[in-house]
Amino acid sequence: MPKLNRRQFSSIAATSLMAGSAVKNTQAQSPNEQLGVCIAGLNGRGGEHIRGFDKDPRTTIRAIVDIDEEVGNRRADQIAKLQGKRPELFTDVRRALDTDGVDILSVATPNHWHALMGVWAMQAGKDVYVEKPISHNIHEGRALVEAAARYGRMFQTGTQCRSSQAVKDAMQHIADGGIGECNFARGLCYKRRKSIGALGNYDIPGNVNFDLWSGPASLTDPKLTRQRFHYDWHWQRHYGNGDLGNQGPHQTDVARWGLGVNRHPNSIISYGGRLGYKAERKDESYVDAGDTANTEVSIYDYGDKCIVFETRGLDISTSSGKEVEAMFGSGGGNKIGVIFYGSEGYVAQVRYDYCKAFDKDFNTVKEFKSGGVGDAHFANFIDACITREYGSLNADAMTGHLSAGVSHLGNISYYLGEQNHASTEEIESAISKVKSLDNNVVTLQRTVEHLRANRVDLDKTPLSLGPMLQFDNETEKFTNNDAANELLARDYRDGFVVPAGDKV
Ligand SMILES: NC(=O)c1ccc[n+]([C@@H]2O[C@H](COP(=O)([O-])OP(=O)(O)OC[C@H]3O[C@@H](n4cnc5c(N)ncnc54)[C@H](O)[C@@H]3O)[C@@H](O)[C@H]2O)c1
Repeated sequence: MPKLNRRQFSSIAATSLMAGSAVKNTQAQSPNEQLGVCIAGLNGRGGEHIRGFDKDPRTTIRAIVDIDEEVGNRRADQIAKLQGKRPELFTDVRRALDTDGVDILSVATPNHWHALMGVWAMQAGKDVYVEKPISHNIHEGRALVEAAARYGRMFQTGTQCRSSQAVKDAMQHIADGGIGECNFARGLCYKRRKSIGALGNYDIPGNVNFDLWSGPASLTDPKLTRQRFHYDWHWQRHYGNGDLGNQGPHQTDVARWGLGVNRHPNSIISYGGRLGYKAERKDESYVDAGDTANTEVSIYDYGDKCIVFETRGLDISTSSGKEVEAMFGSGGGNKIGVIFYGSEGYVAQVRYDYCKAFDKDFNTVKEFKSGGVGDAHFANFIDACITREYGSLNADAMTGHLSAGVSHLGNISYYLGEQNHASTEEIESAISKVKSLDNNVVTLQRTVEHLRANRVDLDKTPLSLGPMLQFDNETEKFTNNDAANELLARDYRDGFVVPAGDKV
């Protein structure tokens, strides 16, 4: 698969801009002209996109797209109040991309739509802001990277930590040797997630277009197997990527950034399960509608560097371990962030706007603070849409691809091993041989304690152990597992195909 280096990219971008190219609405408006924005997907996160673009005087929201009529109308009314003019409301993003006056598409739909909307928009000459994870699988991330280069479009990934001064300063502190030599990062998503209700056959709400909602994902039968239409798709792998691919990309991105790894890992192994909901309901026959892991540990080897990502969705009051407790506090509050382990101390990214450096005894030695992280990220994107400087983007397509990729690769190991139920001893024996800068056995023991504290009976509902996967950074293929390669892309529905990167 051909890849473009920075120089080739700039030359294509410049050529397409100079030629006016196939691209309709390219660039930089006159200073008095506002850039027209279309936002797709408005139920939850779309509200922040409205805020970001409404706040910036250089943009105006001209169109919105939602397949839920009720959500679309509610948001159109809200924007009318904010801007004094109602945006055009669409159900189908393709119609919106044909509209005059739209320069930017901003995507906050479910994950399975991100890449296709991004590719279509760039083909139509729009710049794009795409929520994390920018892709539902590796193939889609690559398609976005290539499309941004081919069409010379600005692309911002919705990982707003990249525009946080606090995180930038903390990453610089690591790069400057502030904690000595640092080769290992632990990403944390200790975030309580309750069961989404029983697997079933539920009615599709009358106000939504399910065909368009499904888009690139095949139509399911029964159509809706979860109770709540919006948001809970995150925990159904047909559409979402579990918490490793939901909250995770914020932290996998920071982990890569701090370690300076701008590539995919060499190898990956995950263990975990969707556990604890039977015990919570006191019903052995209960089947939750989600099929992504709520407990997952993924170990990534980058040669001389290593990332371990821990996802916990059950009660998180106990079994965090001394570093996590020292940096994120003990007790039941969410613990979401990254710990960097240096030879002389630690850095913890504790919030999007707050990081701390510690010495080896966990005494705080430095704090990094900032505000307005989300606004700064939209502003950075808008700056680039005006200057046409792709290199000025804080979270370009490749950044988004690699960081989403960490989640996808971890999930592939988990999905392939899902039926490989293993005792704690078997997992311990397997992971103690895995190359890692973490103490793999201690992390497993903490995970097991955490599950026991949540009344998970591991004899009845054991953990699953995924295969150790070797990944080739250049070809973006696994070298030791054909079944894993099958999971790098999906079977697309006719009319909703995300093209291969070299065909966008
Ligand atoms: N950057 C962040 O901090 C952050 C925070 C929350 C969510 N997110 C991301 O934002 C995205 C949306 O999450 P959410 O919680 O708002 O989900 P949600 O399910 O609440 O909302 C998604 C919206 O997209 C609409 N939609 C679905 N298919 C569509 C289509 N084809 N065209 C137009 N609209 C469509 C739905 O009707 C719904 O209104 C996710 O990818 C999530 O990962 C990012």
